[in-house]
Amino acid sequence: MSDSSVFSKGLAGIVADATSISQVQGEVGRLIYRGISIEELANQSTFEECSFFSLYGHLPSKSELNQFTLEMKTQRNLPKQALSIIENAPRTAHPMAILQAVVASLGFDEGCVNLKNEQGNIHKAIQLISKLATAVASISRERRGLALIAPRPDLSHAENFLYMMHGQIPSKEDSRMFDIALILHLDHDFNASTFSARVVASTEAKLSLSISAAIGALSGPLHGGANEKVLEMADSIGEPEKAEQWVRNALTSKTKVMGFGHRVYRTMDPRAKVLRGMLESIVEQKGHDKTYEILRIVHDTMIEELSKTSKDYIWPNVDFWSGAMYRLMKIDSIDFTPIFAVARVSGWCSHIIEMWRDNKIYRPAAQYVGPEDASYIPMEKRS
Ligand code: SDX
Repeated sequence: MSDSSVFSKGLAGIVADATSISQVQGEVGRLIYRGISIEELANQSTFEECSFFSLYGHLPSKSELNQFTLEMKTQRNLPKQALSIIENAPRTAHPMAILQAVVASLGFDEGCVNLKNEQGNIHKAIQLISKLATAVASISRERRGLALIAPRPDLSHAENFLYMMHGQIPSKEDSRMFDIALILHLDHDFNASTFSARVVASTEAKLSLSISAAIGALSGPLHGGANEKVLEMADSIGEPEKAEQWVRNALTSKTKVMGFGHRVYRTMDPRAKVLRGMLESIVEQKGHDKTYEILRIVHDTMIEELSKTSKDYIWPNVDFWSGAMYRLMKIDSIDFTPIFAVARVSGWCSHIIEMWRDNKIYRPAAQYVGPEDASYIPMEKRS
């Protein structure tokens, strides 16, 4: 390593590039997309509008939004190679593994990357954003042994996704809450999956293959896979009255509680607040929900216990509440992380498009700690 190199495991605190797409303000628990707070966008925008905003860098005019939405709607169908992967994948395969293969297959006929053709790259991005949602719903129905549902061009992205998942048009309330969840998950500066997308795309690899790489990164339980693990945790606790002791045992045994902690946030993840608010409104209508009750006690106990330690910077993150809301929308927990990808694909594509404007292949330095000047030992002389 040269003297100017900085060693930081996990690249913690290392600035790898500049971006104007989003900023995670970890100390104050604020998230902005191109300067607008996530709360304002969740309140007033849609996933389609935020995807345009993320890709193009400005809020769309009415005609721009209509054009973008129309293009999204016309790109929803999957090519036969993708359908064949979905229909032939083993039902025991995790949906994220199937999704990664399907997205790679969407690039079978993708031409070489032309960094100068930004508009062409954005159209490829719109195709991927649109088709990825269809792929997630189709993979889910295949796993459940149900016939695939063809997308409908008369529904919004959120409505159409829930329609393809369940085979019936969702309520306006569910569609709106799901749309907000997609907005909340759309981007988050240089998280592991976005960074993976950038690294692969920095070699001028195809967009579909860069997004496929990002899906692999998102699948891990330390990243997007945490939302599924939170529900597994709630189900293993089983009853609200067991939750408090479960947390104490977890903290004593240094078990990482899924849905808590973050590399950047040192206070509550603002997305968790919005998700909890939506979840509570559904639970209120329902009257009672055991999963919510268990998570509420885990949440409050974790915050109380951690506040007494030096780890008072560990707070709930976006993955803590999302699954409980999806479950109330009758979505299986194994589909939660693929749903994260349905939203984040817009952020991944936006970062790649932005990076390609001034591309430089990622190749960090390494600190070599192995032996110097060793010699080969012939087999007969080895112990
Ligand atoms: C997402 O980066 C992003 O922006 C991601 C994301 C996005 O939108 O893209 O926000 C989405 O991935 C959210 C995070 C989802 N993952 C989880 O909920 C899994 C549980 N969380 C942890 O694995 C952890 O908090 C990470 C992975 C999120 C952050 O890891 P770091 O920054 O490397 O921190 P660390 O693992 O080094 O932990 C520091 C200390 C450790 O204690 P010590 O070894 O110093 O004694 O905090 C402890 C950890 O054990 N700790 C936890 C904890 N998370 C960290 N202790 C208990 N429960 C936890 N959840």
